[in-house]
Amino acid sequence: MAKSLAILTSGGDSAGMNPAVKCAAEYASQKGYDTHLVYDGLRGLIADNIVPTTREQISGILHRGGTMLRSSRSPEFFDYDVRLQAYENLKRRGIEKLIVIGGDGSFRALNQFYSDFGIPFAGIPATIDNDIAGTDYCLGVDTALNVIRESVDSIRDTASSFSRAFVIEVMGRHCGYLALTTALACGAEICLVPEMPYNLDTIGARIKHDIANGRRYVLAVVAEGTKMGDYLTRWINDSIGMEARLTVLGHVQRGGSPSVHDRIMAYKFAVAAVDALEAGQTNSVMVYRAGAYGFLPIQSVTDSKYQLDPALLRLAGPLAS
Ligand code: F6P
Repeated sequence: MAKSLAILTSGGDSAGMNPAVKCAAEYASQKGYDTHLVYDGLRGLIADNIVPTTREQISGILHRGGTMLRSSRSPEFFDYDVRLQAYENLKRRGIEKLIVIGGDGSFRALNQFYSDFGIPFAGIPATIDNDIAGTDYCLGVDTALNVIRESVDSIRDTASSFSRAFVIEVMGRHCGYLALTTALACGAEICLVPEMPYNLDTIGARIKHDIANGRRYVLAVVAEGTKMGDYLTRWINDSIGMEARLTVLGHVQRGGSPSVHDRIMAYKFAVAAVDALEAGQTNSVMVYRAGAYGFLPIQSVTDSKYQLDPALLRLAGPLAS
């Protein structure tokens, strides 16, 4: 009987998921696997929304944002009977292994599934939050940063024309990676992220000093995890005395055609995932660290917290004080 695996995307969509699906299906097929596609993430695994891969399904998807396999967040997967249902769907189809493209919540769910039923999986990190421990990069981050950069550059046009302050809130859940990188790349004056202490008194004194020396507008980038967007906007109005507006970029950051970087990273992660399964790995996550691709056991990913690059934190430190 031919070897068989299925591919799914799970959790928040991110650019790069489609090239990863395409490459994983093609490369696995070259390695002798029958491949299947699971639609709707974990929910599709439960509902048996699983089909054999056809050329048509994986053609013309490379340049598209989001995930053509669709995705879901599925708390019902925590229920054993629901997982049993998913297992029976796979067993009936002779599917022995899974490739899951998503975030660490999805990897945890698949690890529970592995403990229950012994279905090995390989995880490909994909989330714009870039918050998965053990890997320097998650699919979708470069595309999201470019969307954000374009938005912030546009907002700067109005900020400078109107002599206003703009507070721009970016996604990232509890992680400040997007905010920190954006603040540096876009030349913001203020940056607040959960991982870095900030001091509004010293920020205020610095900005007032700059205004006295000719500064006419201010850009502030805040991570959603700080929950400081509203407050900071009012504070700039009231304490600095500069008219301020808040822009919450929201889901625009998750979409868009994957950048070249995300496409190539997707291919490399996909090949690594198939190779890891082929080599007998049962529950690992693909990682990219210090310029090298590899994989880590799931525990070392889920038991630790992603740490922001200290060099980035040092660079951005002055924006929080
Ligand atoms: O994890 C990706 C992400 O976009 C986070 O940055 C954000 O906090 C969250 O998902 C939003 O979730 P939802 O799309 O379910 O509102």
